[in-house]
Amino acid sequence: MSNSYFQIATIPGDGIGKDIVESAISIVNLSSKITGGFKCEWHMIKAGAEYYSLTGKDVEPGGEKKVVELDSIFLGAIGLPTVRHEDGTEICPHLRFREMFGLYAGVRPVKAYKNIPNRLSNELSRNIDLIILRESTEGLFYTAAVHNRCPVENDQEVQDVMKITRATTEKLHDFAFKLARQRKKKGKLGKVTCVDKANVFRSQAFFRKIFDERKVKFKDIDADHCYVDAMALNLIRNPWEYDVMVMENMFGDILSDLGGGLIGGMGMASCAEIGDNHGLFQPAHGSAPDILGQDKANPLATILSASLMLEYLSDKTRCKNTLLGSRLIETAIEIGFERNELRPIEFGGDMGTTAITETLSDLLKDNEIQKQILT
Ligand code: IPM
Ligand code: MG
Repeated sequence: MSNSYFQIATIPGDGIGKDIVESAISIVNLSSKITGGFKCEWHMIKAGAEYYSLTGKDVEPGGEKKVVELDSIFLGAIGLPTVRHEDGTEICPHLRFREMFGLYAGVRPVKAYKNIPNRLSNELSRNIDLIILRESTEGLFYTAAVHNRCPVENDQEVQDVMKITRATTEKLHDFAFKLARQRKKKGKLGKVTCVDKANVFRSQAFFRKIFDERKVKFKDIDADHCYVDAMALNLIRNPWEYDVMVMENMFGDILSDLGGGLIGGMGMASCAEIGDNHGLFQPAHGSAPDILGQDKANPLATILSASLMLEYLSDKTRCKNTLLGSRLIETAIEIGFERNELRPIEFGGDMGTTAITETLSDLLKDNEIQKQILT
């Protein structure tokens, strides 16, 4: 990886994927033009359900090689409910990527922006700012990541396995504590909550045991536990009291959608999937084929995911301008909502993909906003 020139394996995928990826690319390119000193080259790769329905393959020939060799993976949305494998599951090559690259740390921010519809009546919900850290390679997704790992026996019986390994879980919990430490420096609560079902499952009691072992190394960070069913309750009752929440794959999949609901909708749900040597960045939402081609999709989750990618690339290379690019995008979105200049159709507003992209481009060029970042 060069320290300022990044090669991105880009997979627009299905449904609204192409539009939201195009929007995010234009915003990142503009941010690199404004801050200078870094550049992304986007290598397009065909993959997904539509591609599968045409070719029988879920990624184009040579696509996986590019995904392996380039600096990071940027993905729009994959999957169509009308295109399925024989066993009834959908086309999900990105589950394979998570496993191939050991992308164990699924970082899913849940942050309330100003002027978004408030789904909860308590005013404190305007302060929601938490991270769902979803383990993304094992847990209850272990058998799903690779087809036929657990076949249906004689059309009578099937098992999906909840796999928890010490190696991955130690890394995951350490990641959670380090993230809470970084956030504490920015004024956040400095707390990690282990979300599990340790009262019932041995795999989950093991997950919690490893959490308790690791937490002693991070005495400056508060640590507590919560059963996943109670967490679903607390996320509605008092989500503003949480900071980083760490959990196995399936719990994280479910609670991150609940998190999206708390901050308006899935159109704000960004995601970074990080491993020791690779990262995949994608919105946490689906391909929304029902609004395909109508210019209605909210591209902000994808743009925020691209911004997480810039932060990751800057961490890897110590390229300061890449971090500035990321901060410029995030600040422009924050101020755009504050000024009520960003009004997604998703939230009852009047702006679709094109309008949001154009307005956000203007916000990136805004002197007041640039001053906050560049000085
Ligand atoms: C997500 C999505 C995916 C997942 C699907 C599309 C395979 O729901 O990223 O949350 O289950 O991980
Ligand atoms: Mg999901």
